[in-house]
Amino acid sequence: MSKENEEQLESAFEKVKEEIKNKLKFVDHKIAILSNKGGVGKTTVAVNLAAAFVAFYGMDVALLDVDIHGPNVPKALGLSNVAPRVDEEKNVIYPAVVFPRLAVMSMSYMAKDEDPIVLRGPLKTSYINSILQATDWGRRDLLIADCPPGTGDEILTFIQDTPLDGIVIVTAPDPLSEMDVKKAINFGKLLKVEILGIIENMSYMKCPHCGEEIEPFGESIGEEMANKFDVPFLGKLPFDPNVSRSVREGKPFVLNYLDSSTAKEFEKVTKKILSILTSKEKRAAT
Ligand SMILES: Nc1ncnc2c1ncn2[C@@H]1O[C@H](COP(=O)(O)OP(=O)(O)OP(=O)(O)O)[C@@H](O)[C@H]1O
Ligand SMILES: [Mg+2]
Repeated sequence: MSKENEEQLESAFEKVKEEIKNKLKFVDHKIAILSNKGGVGKTTVAVNLAAAFVAFYGMDVALLDVDIHGPNVPKALGLSNVAPRVDEEKNVIYPAVVFPRLAVMSMSYMAKDEDPIVLRGPLKTSYINSILQATDWGRRDLLIADCPPGTGDEILTFIQDTPLDGIVIVTAPDPLSEMDVKKAINFGKLLKVEILGIIENMSYMKCPHCGEEIEPFGESIGEEMANKFDVPFLGKLPFDPNVSRSVREGKPFVLNYLDSSTAKEFEKVTKKILSILTSKEKRAAT
């Protein structure tokens, strides 16, 4: 590639980044929920943290589903009949406001449920970018992005092009996850994005009969991992059958079971994230 072409490409990349930054200028904080491993509960955690920030702190939250191939944020919210509003003339997408204070944008709005989205790398990148460039979130306190598993094209694009406060890593209490957590931490370091902390999901469950805590995946190791890798530990979340029950009932778990002990655990995690974001803000101001 000639020097001139390289410079043109570079300036096109910068333009995209600038437009995305501009669209997010009224969103105070932005975090991405990530894990290298699939199925550990990223979507469940993203959706319910969003609901917890709304329910416990009255915050205005944006929830972005970055998953192109398995976009299931609306499903995890228990929603089937809401969609963003598209202004084709202005080329602007207004996210669906699904509960008071919770705005959602998902790649699933762009295709029918049963249709697989088949895109190769460069197309995925431009797909994600065009959605980020077009979505107008308005004024929000926080954006939470639910990422697909791994560190593929769409995550790379999203993280490189979005001015993030940091990454929250979700893991399960499984010794096989340690390598995945380390990879996610190194990914953050490589892209110069702060790791805000680790959440251990499905850490334990309460016996419905006697209330005793059982650790179905073995002893919790999230805190130990966080100490080992020198990143904050944000808390443990239990396995709770009401999480999937709630999806069937059509409401995010935290809003549906607001007084449950599991919802309280989500609240504790939101509190830790908020305090980290606030101290980061103070550090930046000095
Ligand atoms: N704390 C929990 N209690 C009960 N069920 C849970 C919990 N966390 C996740 N699940 C269930 O585990 C399954 C996987 O969760 P989820 O889809 O959130 O994982 P994911 O990491 O987003 O997966 P993917 O890597 O495919 O995006 C879902 O059926 C979800 O309902
Ligand atoms: Mg998911």
